[in-house]
Parts: sequence; structure tokens; C-alpha cells
Amino acid sequence: MVVGEVIPLVFSFYKGSEFYKAIALEGTLGCTSIHVIKIYYQQKNLMYGGFVMIKNLQDTTTLLNGVNMPGFGLGVWQVKEGNEVVNSVKYAIKAGYKSIDTAAAYKNEAGVGQAIKETGVPREELFITTKVWNADQGYESTLTAFEQSTKKLGVDYVDLYLIHWPVAGKYKDTWKALEKLYKDGKVRAIGVSNFHQHHLEDLLADAEITPMVNQIELHPLLTQVELREFCKSIGMKVEAWSPLGSGKILDNPVIKEVAEKYNKTVAQVILRWDIQHDIITIPKSTKENRIIENADVFDFELSAEDMAKIDGLNKNERTGPDPDNFNF
Ligand SMILES: NC(=O)c1ccc[n+]([C@@H]2O[C@H](COP(=O)([O-])OP(=O)(O)OC[C@H]3O[C@@H](n4cnc5c(N)ncnc54)[C@H](OP(=O)(O)O)[C@@H]3O)[C@@H](O)[C@H]2O)c1
Repeated sequence: MVVGEVIPLVFSFYKGSEFYKAIALEGTLGCTSIHVIKIYYQQKNLMYGGFVMIKNLQDTTTLLNGVNMPGFGLGVWQVKEGNEVVNSVKYAIKAGYKSIDTAAAYKNEAGVGQAIKETGVPREELFITTKVWNADQGYESTLTAFEQSTKKLGVDYVDLYLIHWPVAGKYKDTWKALEKLYKDGKVRAIGVSNFHQHHLEDLLADAEITPMVNQIELHPLLTQVELREFCKSIGMKVEAWSPLGSGKILDNPVIKEVAEKYNKTVAQVILRWDIQHDIITIPKSTKENRIIENADVFDFELSAEDMAKIDGLNKNERTGPDPDNFNF
């Protein structure tokens, strides 16, 4: 860090008996001290280890830069371009979803954009995430890829732009491009995906802006406790990809037993577990009934004992590749 540099700061405090989280985004580094330029603060009215738990499908979580991101959204990986993705996004928006997670690599950004347009929901009510693909990483190529994504989506800005995977030797230049897009007002928030702690530490050594989100594979068989703790320590939100283990963990007997107790489905219990852990979640489905079912998770609360039971299922078992060892 150098003198005069703008640095993000996160801290919490009590005022009387009320808990607040203060996010001082615009601090500058002096010779011997940090000057706080601006403080955003928010009262914590529902505590789950120091965060406000979302209470409905439209509810948001506050990112490091003060931007509010819905805590629940629809993922569209492996959803076919054309009718399939258009319909999925329309079902979701009709059901009250505000957040859609796509990527250049999913090759369905145009369909996502078409659905947004056809629903007629004002752009500012939605939260659109897309990602720069590995082959496009690097400074100039990322800027070009971003333009292509916005064109396909038919939007003037993206709410959250992510580096899809930590491509060795490239992700720092890619991050510089994301910082430029952020400073130019073309994205409301920037973040990464599939970054281990060592990738984040390496990135932070040179980054001007701390990534606001890390989207990682996360579900009851891969709970990522240490990485979640690290992200939390630097004010970064964790977002779960494949929260349902791509559908492969829906027959888990322990979660089935918990689900029966609450008269909910296994998918609903897993998604509720995300919410109670302050994990942003983006389950994918192409079926209207499941899109509705997945979001019906705001009328029950898992007990501490049941949360611990699900926490205990961790086997560090991935459905996708380890970010230290991918070849695409
Ligand atoms: N950053 C990354 O590298 C990365 C990687 C993977 C995924 N993601 C993001 O994360 C999102 C979610 O992950 P994912 O798509 O792998 O899988 P997921 O959300 O864990 O699971 C989706 C699978 O479960 C099924 N399903 C959904 N809801 C269900 C329900 N209520 N009951 C029974 N089955 C249900 C779906 O089938 P139907 O569609 O037939 O309902 C689909 O096969 C992706 O769409 C994408 O946006 C990001």
C-alpha cells in the first residue's frame, strides 16, 4: 500500500445496545495513520454472527462498497440459449426473484437479456451478474469481453462482474480491467469466482479495490469453512455455486430427515442453511414449480442443532474441479 491510496475498511461497533456494522469505503492511507473519508453504516437488527439475515426473496445483503445485492437468485448454467433460458428467467422474475447469475461461458446472455426486456421489470429493480471467461482474461481482452457481454444482455451496466476462474499469470491483469470498469461506472460491484485464499492474498497484494464477492462451489458436502472465514475477515461476501450440488445431494438421508421435520424439501433445507450462514445462493432450475419451491424458504428457521447437523456433512467433496487444478 502507498500513501494516499484509497483503501476499504470494515469494522463493527456497538452504540448503546445496538449493533452496527460500519463500512468505511473511502479511507486514505496517510504516513502514519488511516483517514476515514466516508462511513456507511447499517444497523444489524437480526444477528447471525454479525449480519442481517435476509427475510424475503427481494431482501439484500450489503457488499463492501455499500451496494445491496439480493441474497437469493437464479443460476442459469447449463440452461440452453433460446426458449429454455428465456422461460427460466421469466418464471423466476414472475416468482419475485431479482437476481440472475449468468456468464459469458454459459452462452445464454442474450436469452437472459431477452427475458429481462420481455418481463418489462425496470432494469434498476434487477441484479445481473455475469463473468469474464478464462480465454478472455488479460486487461484489454477483458474490457472487450465485457462490452460483448453487455451487448448480448442488452444492458448499459452490469450489477456484478466476476473473474470466472483464477487463470494463473492472468487474473491480476483481468482484475485491473474490472477495477477500470468499476471506476468508469459500468459495473456496480466487482468480484471473483473460484478463488482460494492464496489466490485472494496474491490478488490483494496488488489490487486497488478488494473484491466484493467470491463465488465458490459450496454445499453441505463442501462447506468451505476456512475460506468463508477468510472472506468474512476482509469484508467479502461468499456466494455459493451449485448450492444443491448440481442436484446430486438431494437424496442425502440426513438432510431428508431434517426436511421431514420442517415439512420442507431437501432443496429448501439446503437453501435455508445457506441463508442462515449469510451465504448468497443461486440455485438453478428450468422448471417453474422448482423455481418457486426453491424460493419458498422464508417461513421457517433451522434450529442451531439442525444447522450443525448439516455443517457436519462436509466431506470436502467437489462436483467441479479444484481451482488449483483446472484445465479450461
Ligand atoms: N462460478 C462458477 O464457476 C460456477 C460453476 C457452476 C455453477 N455456477 C452458478 O451456480 C448456479 C447453480 O449451480 P448448478 O446449476 O450447478 O446447480 P444447483 O443449483 O446446485 O442444482 C441444479 C440442479 O438441481 C435440480 N434442481 C433444482 N431445484 C430442484 C428442486 N427443488 N428439486 C429437485 N431438483 C432440483 C436442477 O434440475 P432442473 O433444472 O431440471 O430443475 C439441476 O439439475 C449455476 O446455474 C451458475 O449460475 C457457477
